[in-house]
Amino acid sequence: MKKVYMDYAASTPVDKEVLDEMLPFFDKYYGNASSIHSFGVDAFNAVEEARERVAKIIGAKNDEIIFTAGGTESDNIAIKGVAFKNREKKGSKGYNIITCSIEHPAVLVTCKYLDNIGYKAKFLPVDRYGIVNLDELEKSISKDTFLITIMFANNEIGTIEPIQEIGKIAKKHNVLFHTDAVQAIGKVPIDINNLNIDLLSISSHKIYGPKGVGALYIRKGIKLETIAHGGGHEKGIRSGTYNTPGIVGLGKACELGFKRMDNDVLQMTKLRDILIKKVLEIEESYLNGHPTQRLANNAHFRFTAIEGESLNMLLNDAGIASATGSACSSKKLQASHVLTGIGLIQELAHGSLRLSLGRKSTKEEVEYVCNTIPGIVKKLRDMSPLWNR
Ligand SMILES: Cc1ncc(COP(=O)(O)O)c(C=O)c1O
Repeated sequence: MKKVYMDYAASTPVDKEVLDEMLPFFDKYYGNASSIHSFGVDAFNAVEEARERVAKIIGAKNDEIIFTAGGTESDNIAIKGVAFKNREKKGSKGYNIITCSIEHPAVLVTCKYLDNIGYKAKFLPVDRYGIVNLDELEKSISKDTFLITIMFANNEIGTIEPIQEIGKIAKKHNVLFHTDAVQAIGKVPIDINNLNIDLLSISSHKIYGPKGVGALYIRKGIKLETIAHGGGHEKGIRSGTYNTPGIVGLGKACELGFKRMDNDVLQMTKLRDILIKKVLEIEESYLNGHPTQRLANNAHFRFTAIEGESLNMLLNDAGIASATGSACSSKKLQASHVLTGIGLIQELAHGSLRLSLGRKSTKEEVEYVCNTIPGIVKKLRDMSPLWNR
């Protein structure tokens, strides 16, 4: 059976060039990067080269990058690291942290946790496209606010947030600005200086690198509380022996992502637009997310009187890998907080489908998907009591 992967927002295959660079670090250059002997120095040099490659993709300096175990950990270190440094503001009247209602759980749950232990967090609403309300953002800032954390691009509906404007507001009020750029890296050009970003999270497995490794950009001069205590690695913020193969993979993935971004974006945008045009020809189908301010690889739909999980399963039977909610929550059957966050009622939110493209997606794959979906939608509607035509 034909197999088509359209879930690149959940994870990507490791690029062959990335894998080739990683392999010698499992069995040839296996030293501990903190050791002073030659085995250690080989590993150390590779880690530092990777640091330079990661820094380059966002216009940062090498010593502003720390390595982590992925996007979730980067978000946790950034948000808790800033919050714990500002613990004297706990229990204050104004908001300490401002975020938005459609963040990835790595940010959302971390902010809820901090709110539960005495910090005050504001969860800004978004409009029907998923764009954060800038007026409300500015109005929510007080002398008690020390952090704004708003994602660069949404993992479910693909909406790109007005990061430049948010950066300006943060700078004007002297508040730190963290952004979860896990979905945006390699798809949107990012210059942390132009955008006034102070902290930025990266995950390797979304950009054709290995799973379980990521990075956090921390603007020079910003002090974070230690999150993982131990031997003092990564400026004492996050201890633990370096995952040298993983870090080398992340570095190579960033280098390739930087080099190939223009091509990737051009190609994915073309395919995405075909996908959107064709799928929207189905009666009572709609696009979720912003029509233009969206990631090049994201197409997110909802269909009246359809259960997204069933659609997902029938697509899987036809060899197509897709997603309903976010990758991490698609096994839960409650409606996604992102879809309810953009104002969809439960029934509509449940009828959603995410198709996400990647570097290897082809026109033939898109055609196969476009030809398969209408039949499945019809089949499900024929069985649905909600579809009375
Ligand atoms: C926007 C966003 N942030 C964070 C994460 C978590 O990254 P990781 O899987 O590397 O922990 C994801 C993964 O789905 C994501 O899409």
